Amino acid sequence: MAEAALIEVLTDAEVCEIEAECAHLPDRKSAAIDAMMIVQRHRGWVSDESLAAIARLLGMSTAALDSIATFYNLIYRQPVGRHVVMVCDSVSCYVMGADGLRKQVEEHLGIKLGETTDDGRFTLLPIVCLGACDKAPTMMIGEDLIENVAAEKLGEIFGGYE
Ligand code: FES
Repeated sequence: MAEAALIEVLTDAEVCEIEAECAHLPDRKSAAIDAMMIVQRHRGWVSDESLAAIARLLGMSTAALDSIATFYNLIYRQPVGRHVVMVCDSVSCYVMGADGLRKQVEEHLGIKLGETTDDGRFTLLPIVCLGACDKAPTMMIGEDLIENVAAEKLGEIFGGYE
């Protein structure tokens, strides 16, 4: 695909937001994560086509950008549900029952880790420490951090998300 066509994959609004990020960074590659997050905010995930277009816009290779995406687990390279649920599996949460909590979340949603509910409402993914270890066990639903998660409250918690 020609360079112009690749960049045209992105909307004017996306390009505009990415350029605004680049404007206050020392080099365009430093905007890599922000640029992917911008596209993800607009589209829900970052497709191969979007990734290639972002890479061209930032003047880097698609492979280099893809490797950054791979190490940053908040960039979704597959379509996800309307709400991404991430149960922390790091040490403090593990000690406080994260493994059992994950199983109860799986049971409640009827999906396994890495899957999306049939109605497209939730995708369940793993996550490392969310930085709230004193409130373990924790999980994220979208951008909401849920602390001291009690299994018996899962119905109430998930009921708050359409
Ligand atoms: S270990 Fe779960 S929030 Fe830190």
